[in-house]
Amino acid sequence: MRAGHIPGAIISGSMEIVVPDEYKHLYVQSKERPVVKFPAPILRQTARHVQKVSPKTKRVADEMARVMRMANGIGLAAPQIGIGERIIVIAPKGTRAVALINPRIVEQDGEMVGEEGCLSIPGLYGDVSRKARVVVEALDIRGRATRLDLEGLSSRVAQHEIDHLDGVLFTDKVDQSTLHWKNPEVDDEVE
Ligand code: CO
Repeated sequence: MRAGHIPGAIISGSMEIVVPDEYKHLYVQSKERPVVKFPAPILRQTARHVQKVSPKTKRVADEMARVMRMANGIGLAAPQIGIGERIIVIAPKGTRAVALINPRIVEQDGEMVGEEGCLSIPGLYGDVSRKARVVVEALDIRGRATRLDLEGLSSRVAQHEIDHLDGVLFTDKVDQSTLHWKNPEVDDEVE
């Protein structure tokens, strides 16, 4: 696809994302829109392992849950609020937000394709192939080892958020033929 071909064209290969003019206001960070937006460098960095779950970790997780709810999200990773630590929150389909610290996928099977969006790339959506089922080991907010067996949307959200901790965005894995822009203000599920 040629640069400048269509406003908002996705240039494949380098995967440069060109934000259409009518979506640019969504990329301005503000008190009302605190999520770190593409192309902030922290979104491409590997987040640090959390050495010890502390009251500070709890504050970060609480802030992430607050920001996620405010943005109508169903998952968020710490780099999306500017913190390079391995912390995610997931809350598929209006369930209570669960914080996972140092999450790792220890088992996976099957495959599923579904649409994803990202609070850091507002307005852009596309189909991503993910593992159908993942088992995630992590620490909970009290520092206890926890193990979650996830399927469906929960599985998808966990994989999307864990990718964020390694600087990977859904646009790296998307079926590029399905990428499209739509107003996120009328959509309620983004990660
Ligand atoms: Co995301």
